[in-house]
Amino acid sequence: MKVLAFNASPRKKKGVSEIIMNLFLEGAAEGGAETERYYILDLNIKGCIGCFKCWVETPGRCIYRDDMDWVIPKFMDADVIYLGTPIYNYNITHYLQRMMERMLPTALPYMEEREGSTRHPERHERKAQKIVLAAVAGFPDTENFNQARALFPNAIYIFLPAAQILQDPEGSKYLSDFKDAVKEVGRQIVTRGEIDEALKDKLVVSFSPEFKKKIRERANKFFEALMQKT
Ligand SMILES: Cc1cc2nc3c(=O)[nH]c(=O)nc-3n(C[C@H](O)[C@H](O)[C@H](O)COP(=O)(O)O)c2cc1C
Repeated sequence: MKVLAFNASPRKKKGVSEIIMNLFLEGAAEGGAETERYYILDLNIKGCIGCFKCWVETPGRCIYRDDMDWVIPKFMDADVIYLGTPIYNYNITHYLQRMMERMLPTALPYMEEREGSTRHPERHERKAQKIVLAAVAGFPDTENFNQARALFPNAIYIFLPAAQILQDPEGSKYLSDFKDAVKEVGRQIVTRGEIDEALKDKLVVSFSPEFKKKIRERANKFFEALMQKT
């Protein structure tokens, strides 16, 4: 089983997305998967300019020669695709959005009805893939993930609000159930091709109003102290 992971945080190995991606990939590797990871910021991916040449003039081929030349075949060949992104402006980062826009050559121009919505058919027969969307936010409210959820309606979600707490020892301890669940989802997806319903609840963290208040107060103090230092 091939697991392909993309980290869309510009902070790359220094971010919280990295911690979560590592846990997931550890679980997947323990389950026997072949895993690969990429940092989108390191890839040369130009923005789609909407010329539609990949549909009309050179069907299936973009005008640009860049890293999407190998990302697309790798993406199509994977059994599990892991997309890790911070929430920026209530959305996935533009690094991930740009990569997803460049998938246009994999679709046909026609429009068809699927599950009540209009979609483009796939250009090539596609494996039954699992998509895991792991998003982290600085605010403590789960509403920050609404847009990400809407963009990937069929994904398995890993959502962590106030994600910065995972980077301190106390917060990391507090989130030990969540961390175990992330690793377990990696393992289950590889060994069983699906995950327990009960596990899904543990993957989307939500905090009480009192805890959110603490998070806000702590964040305010933290930035106040940083600003005073400079
Ligand atoms: C430009 C920018 C926009 C952000 N917008 C949001 C936001 O809308 N909601 C939120 O909860 N956090 C927001 N954040 C905070 C990030 O989601 C948070 O710092 C996250 O942990 C970063 O992930 P990383 O550590 O993997 O880089 C924003 C951060 C930046 C730099």
